Amino acid sequence: MSSHDSYLELTWTDEITGIKGYVVIDTLSRGVAGGGLRMRDGVTLNEVRDLAQAMTLKEAVVYTPGDRYVPLGGAKGGIDCDPYDPRARDVLARFGRAMKPLIEVLFATGEDFGVRQDVIDEVFADEGIRSSAESALSLVDDGADAAHERLKLAFSRTVDGVGLGELVGGFGVAETVLAALEFRGTEPTSATAVVQGFGSMGGATARYLAAAGVRVVGISDREGLIYHPSGLDVEALLAGRDVFGVIDRNLLRAGDELRPGETWVDADVDILVPAAMSYVITADNVDRIKASVICEAANVSTLPDAEALLLERGVTVVPDFVANVGTNAWWWWVAFGDIDPTPEGSFNKISGVLRPLTRELLTRARREGISPRQAATAISEDKRAAVAEHYPTSVKSAAVAR
Ligand SMILES: NC(=O)c1ccc[n+]([C@@H]2O[C@H](COP(=O)([O-])OP(=O)(O)OC[C@H]3O[C@@H](n4cnc5c(N)ncnc54)[C@H](O)[C@@H]3O)[C@@H](O)[C@H]2O)c1
Repeated sequence: MSSHDSYLELTWTDEITGIKGYVVIDTLSRGVAGGGLRMRDGVTLNEVRDLAQAMTLKEAVVYTPGDRYVPLGGAKGGIDCDPYDPRARDVLARFGRAMKPLIEVLFATGEDFGVRQDVIDEVFADEGIRSSAESALSLVDDGADAAHERLKLAFSRTVDGVGLGELVGGFGVAETVLAALEFRGTEPTSATAVVQGFGSMGGATARYLAAAGVRVVGISDREGLIYHPSGLDVEALLAGRDVFGVIDRNLLRAGDELRPGETWVDADVDILVPAAMSYVITADNVDRIKASVICEAANVSTLPDAEALLLERGVTVVPDFVANVGTNAWWWWVAFGDIDPTPEGSFNKISGVLRPLTRELLTRARREGISPRQAATAISEDKRAAVAEHYPTSVKSAAVAR
C-alpha cells in the first residue's frame, strides 16, 4: 500500500495473558506522530500499519497555513483483545506502562474503536502518564500545561447528553456527507441513510445527519441492525447506548425492525456510513450496495477492488482520512489553541474546514478523472510538502497509493 517503510513497528506481548499489542509509527513530523489506539479481537500488525499510513494522510489533509497546529506524522496502536473481555482494562494498563516512553516522547494517541478516551485517561494516569497526547503537547507554543487545560475543558463539555469529544468526529463525517450530497445535487431532506456502528463515530454521525433532515433508517451495532423505513429516533437510541455503543433493545419503538447485522450493506438508501470495523466493503458484498454516497467514518472500511467497482458505478466514496478527520484535527486545534474549546467553536471550525475540503476533492476528482481518494491523497501530499518546506527536518515522503 505504501511506498516507504514505517518509521517504527513494534509488537508487544502481555506477560500475563499473552495478548498482543502493536504500535506502528508510519511517519514523524517535528519528531512526533499521532494516531488512535484500538482494541478489538483479531487486530493485526498489518491492520495497524494500514491505519498508521492513513493517519499520515489524515494529519496533513487539514493543514491550513496560519493555524498554530501544524500536522504531525501518522501512527496507530492496536490491542488484540475484545473490549468486553474482563481482562481488557488491565491489559490496556500494562500496554500503557510498556509504551510509556513512546507515548511521552513521540506517539500521541487517543481513543479509537473499542477504547474510550475517559478509560485511557484513567488507566494511563495510574501509570503516571498525564495525557495520552503528551508528546504532541510538548510542541504547543504556550506550553503543555496550557494545552492540557484546554483539552480538559473541551472534554468536559457535553451537548444534549453526549461528550463533545465523542461528537466532533461524527459531526465531521456528517458534514462531509452533506457536502457530497450538495455536490451531487441531492437535498438532505430527500435522502436516506444507514450507519454501521453506533459508538463515538456512528452515534454522532447519525445524530447530525438526522439534525440536517436526512432520514436515518438503519443503525447497526455488534448485535445487529435496527431498521425503520420512516426513520429511527436517533436521540432515543443514543440515550439507550452502553459505553461500547450497543443499543438497549428494550427501548425500541413499535415498527423498529431487528435485522441481521450484515444486511446493513443491502439497504435501499442514498447514503451508507461504515462506522465500525475496517475492511467491511469488499468485492464479495459490493454488488449488494444500492447507495450513491459512502462516507468512511471507519478507517480503511472499503477495500481497493470494491472501491474501484463503486467508482465505475458512479458512487461517491469520501475516503476515511477526510471523512473521519474531525476527531484528530479537533484534538490538535484545541490543544494548539486554534479554536475555543466550546461546542460552537469546535463545530464551526470542523464545518469550515471539511465542507470546502470535500468540495475541493470531489471537484478535483471529477476534473482529473481520478477517484476522490486519489484526489484527497494528492491534496494531502501537496500540504505535506508545504509543511516540509516550513519545517524542513520534519517530513518523510508519504505517498500512499490506493
Ligand atoms: N473514535 C474516534 O475518535 C475515531 C476517529 C476516527 C476514526 N475512527 C474509526 O471509526 C470506527 C469506529 O470507531 P468508534 O470510536 O466509533 O468505535 P466505538 O468502539 O465507539 O463503536 C464501535 C461501534 O461498532 C459496533 N460494532 C462492533 N462490532 C460490530 C459489528 N460486527 N457489526 C456492526 N457494528 C459493530 C459497536 O457495537 C459500536 O456501536 C473505527 O474504524 C475507528 O478507527 C474513530
